[in-house]
Amino acid sequence: MSDSELIIAARKAREFAHAEYSHFKVGAALETVDGTVITGCNIENATYGLTVCAERVAMFKALSEGHRHFRRIAIVADTASPTPPCGACRQILWEFGGDLEVMLANLTQEAGRHRLRDLLPLPFDARLLK
Ligand code: THU
Repeated sequence: MSDSELIIAARKAREFAHAEYSHFKVGAALETVDGTVITGCNIENATYGLTVCAERVAMFKALSEGHRHFRRIAIVADTASPTPPCGACRQILWEFGGDLEVMLANLTQEAGRHRLRDLLPLPFDARLLK
């Protein structure tokens, strides 16, 4: 899948966001090493605290379907500046995806690319539990 196709997949996923409280819709498209794309959107809840971000929805969907190896993730929000993944999502993406390429985009253009290791320096992870 091309870069722009992955971003388009994230834009489409964003349309399904449940963002009744923040009105801030986010879409994500996670690509596995074999090219499968699993999408996610943010899902809010009246308790607020049970909200799940688009990136974690995509990762948990992927894991629950048996995917284990990932290459990159595209994240889309309707913001002029790029919307990077929150801290909790960085932790989850690192745990299950490792040093993913993180592509940020809005509704009209790509807005930056990062390696996850740069977004989450000095991570706490399973290596420390051994
Ligand atoms: N959100 C995401 O889904 N991903 C991000 O990277 C940033 C924040 C969601 C959570 C909440 O539903 C809304 O955006 C506002 O924080």
